[in-house]
Amino acid sequence: MEQQPALYLIAAMSENHVIGNQNSLPWHLPDEWKNFRKVTEGKAFLMGRTSYEAPDALHSTYRNVILSNHGDHTDQGNTQYAPDMEHALALLSDENEVFVLGGASVFAQLISQAQKLFLTIVHAHIEGDAFFPTVSLADWEMQSSEYHGIDEEHEYSFSMNVYVRKEADNAEESSQ
Ligand SMILES: NC(=O)c1ccc[n+]([C@@H]2O[C@H](COP(=O)([O-])OP(=O)(O)OC[C@H]3O[C@@H](n4cnc5c(N)ncnc54)[C@H](OP(=O)(O)O)[C@@H]3O)[C@@H](O)[C@H]2O)c1
Repeated sequence: MEQQPALYLIAAMSENHVIGNQNSLPWHLPDEWKNFRKVTEGKAFLMGRTSYEAPDALHSTYRNVILSNHGDHTDQGNTQYAPDMEHALALLSDENEVFVLGGASVFAQLISQAQKLFLTIVHAHIEGDAFFPTVSLADWEMQSSEYHGIDEEHEYSFSMNVYVRKEADNAEESSQ
């Protein structure tokens, strides 16, 4: 059986779980982008075709695997297409860790298999049409959290949180 890499979901969501609006991020937070770049530097990315083609999309300089049901895409440079999740994970089976970049549909498919969440909470209620799935805090332990306040470049404050999946025994204790 092929080995599966550790899956790390990385996202920024508002307090009401919005991650996007009309295929764009509904905020501009330069220090959050910098943190994203630092965390994901040199790592493989897995994402849905819509997020990959978004105008503000971030691509890996190392390796991108893009999910698409349509077979009319051609692999190019460091970008490969996969027709379903099984093929995508098989392509990435030689990686130790893979960052899952979304969007909403891909987060929903993979949150149950993820080992870590790099989840920035944007401290605002924002309108949008793409949402991060519900996170059961009984399953996750916060490893670190870095707060960033409002300033002239950042319209909203935000917290860059990292969660690790609890061991099965600990998760059971916390949910009781
Ligand atoms: N705030 C954040 O951290 C963040 C991060 C990423 C994205 N976003 C936002 O999320 C939104 C996009 O999310 P979305 O859910 O609409 O789109 P998405 O998940 O990025 O992409 C959906 C597309 O991916 C392909 N796909 C997904 N799962 C597949 C599977 N199992 N097998 C084959 N193909 C599969 C399909 O492509 P085909 O149509 O080609 O078949 C599907 O239409 C945008 O607003 C974006 O800005 C936010």
